[in-house]
Amino acid sequence: MTGNGQSTRRVTRRALLDRWWLLPVAGTAGAFGYMGWYATRVTYGKRQPGEAQFQTAAPQHVADLAALRDAWSERTFTYAGRPCTVMRVPRAVPGGLTAGDVHLAAFSRVCTHLGCSVNLVRDPEVLAFAFNYRPPADEQHPQLGCRCHYSVFDPLRAGQAVFGKANGPLPRVRLEMRGDGVWATGIEPAPPLGG
Ligand code: FES
Repeated sequence: MTGNGQSTRRVTRRALLDRWWLLPVAGTAGAFGYMGWYATRVTYGKRQPGEAQFQTAAPQHVADLAALRDAWSERTFTYAGRPCTVMRVPRAVPGGLTAGDVHLAAFSRVCTHLGCSVNLVRDPEVLAFAFNYRPPADEQHPQLGCRCHYSVFDPLRAGQAVFGKANGPLPRVRLEMRGDGVWATGIEPAPPLGG
């Protein structure tokens, strides 16, 4: 009985020693598998903003139109407890506001990756060198960038994530014109972070 037990232990120990190389091989295969999955997810997993799904909130004056006179002029504000931005854009944006030849869009500034604040990046060279993102030649305009992990969101594509770890679009803010004032009246739900 005792002899058999010792023999079994010897065999088990020998078997383990014979297969020690499986550990680094499995670890390497797992690491490459994860990197492949992650690269695929951040490259092809960007979600379209779709039709705006606003939740009504208390109306709030966020800017005067005079402060948004030029394309890409911007005002930041806090709405429904979330940091937001409203900007004048050169063309109509789904979920934005168009009044005559004035096009406005507003977004939550909470990055959908892990919640850092996004800011408007106006210089394409900064996007290229700091964010490693160079948009196509016909899309060279300011973008909303997150400096935590360098995700980029396109205001003209309704806040869609176009580069980096974030996959979800920025929630949009519903706008209204009241006289010469720009008001926020609703905001899309905050998505779970990590997407
Ligand atoms: S928190 Fe914005 S990219 Fe990670």
